Amino acid sequence: MLVALKLAVFAMTACASAEFPTVCDVACQSSFNQSLFVDSSGWVRPDVNLDTFYATPHNFSDYEVGDLIKWEDVSPKDVSTTWSIPSGLSLSRFYYVSADVDGTPLPATGYALVPYTNPLGHKKPFRVVVWAHGTAGFTPQCAPSNNKGLYYNWMAPFALAQQGYVVIAPDYAGQGSTIPKGFMYNAGIAHANDVSLAVAAARNAFPHQITHEWVVVGHSEGGLTSWRTAQREAIPSKAVGGFLGAVSIAPAMEIMSLVPWVIARANGGPLHEIFLPFMLQSISRLFPSFDIAKYVSSKVLDFSELALHGCLNVAVPLLAPLTATDMYLNGANYPSAPEVLEWDEKYHGKGAHKLGGPLLVFHGEGDFIIPHSNTARVFTEQCDDFPESQAEYQLLPGLDHDGVLQVSKAIYFPWIADRFDNEQVDRGCTRSVAQFAKDGFSTIEQAWVSAGQVLVQ
Ligand SMILES: *[C@@H]1O[C@H](CO)[C@@H](O)[C@H](O)[C@H]1NC(C)=O
Ligand SMILES: *[C@@H]1O[C@H](CO)[C@@H](O)[C@H](O)[C@H]1NC(C)=O
Repeated sequence: MLVALKLAVFAMTACASAEFPTVCDVACQSSFNQSLFVDSSGWVRPDVNLDTFYATPHNFSDYEVGDLIKWEDVSPKDVSTTWSIPSGLSLSRFYYVSADVDGTPLPATGYALVPYTNPLGHKKPFRVVVWAHGTAGFTPQCAPSNNKGLYYNWMAPFALAQQGYVVIAPDYAGQGSTIPKGFMYNAGIAHANDVSLAVAAARNAFPHQITHEWVVVGHSEGGLTSWRTAQREAIPSKAVGGFLGAVSIAPAMEIMSLVPWVIARANGGPLHEIFLPFMLQSISRLFPSFDIAKYVSSKVLDFSELALHGCLNVAVPLLAPLTATDMYLNGANYPSAPEVLEWDEKYHGKGAHKLGGPLLVFHGEGDFIIPHSNTARVFTEQCDDFPESQAEYQLLPGLDHDGVLQVSKAIYFPWIADRFDNEQVDRGCTRSVAQFAKDGFSTIEQAWVSAGQVLVQ
């Protein structure tokens, strides 16, 4: 999600104290204060470090990959007031063991939503959808489980739960939980572990109430994650089983390759790009030989550091206005640095891989964050290298990065139901352009904010 919430009234009381670097002048400080208010008003806990739920257990090393460590059903009072969850849904938080790209156990958290009733019958197990979120931030504080509306609210998790699915949603290791090298942004291989192992962990909490089968849906960073999950579940030694398919919406595939596009599009003006700096930060923590100061200016480093006081709404106004001159050094040639190439393969998962089930991909033609041509290219590579893939790509005209998430629901909800109903998907790839019914549709992804209890009754 990349839409700063527009709130009419800003109260300045929620500001965490931040040391402003000299590069952040008074206008920058004021904008920081406002956007921090937006981010922090969504937080369930003002500081996740003070909530023992998120603390790594003292005996973490006694657990194995896929184990469930803690499961906490949120009380009826908290689900209705501390979080903003629609009536009838139950919320749980869970702590489990995910895995790093090399299989090392990593602490991870997530949440689960359970619908009021099972539309398939009271005694039937609930069907399971895993929701893989897009860029939420870069620290434990920004975990969707720590967001009152679970960060994506009606854009996905509430809507999926109201279709009658149990929704399992990983925060991704390093958001919620604390991990040694910090949150590994856009590390698709690691996030796919978070997805599959969240399913394994949740099976321990609901031994009879959920199906073994599951589908994953994700957007942006989560679109990358769901695509990688489909590839992960094709690997017998790693698969958790029961995988029925993946829906990948506006996926952040191979976005290191977008550097020339980002620079060309900016044409000397604002880059409107915040993802690359945070990927580089993560790479420098994973590969100590990668000296980020060789590739980005000190302004970027200062702003990125400041951005860690908040989540995405704080990062965007700080970094989006920067130009190629502000942002990049050495001709922005870091995509060819050996550490970046290694990261792209091991962590991001660059390249085509066999799919463990059907894949449905959507991209908006008006996406200004990730161009649809990029997704089309990666999709073609997938189909060329693995012609037996069961894969479908739909281009949605008139829609941007977030708008596509709303529109695609009408297409992917029945697609998910078909997977559970054992409808076969032909082998091979299909591509189509969605035909919209009417000109003049809304093109803005609205930010929905709960106003609390409706007082009419
Ligand atoms: C930003 O917030 C801090 C902390 O609340 C405050 O001290 C400072 O005056 C604010 N700055 C601006 C420019 O609003
Ligand atoms: C870890 O410690 C908790 C108590 O603090 C205990 O309940 C749990 O069984 C321990 N887990 C393992 C795997 O030993």
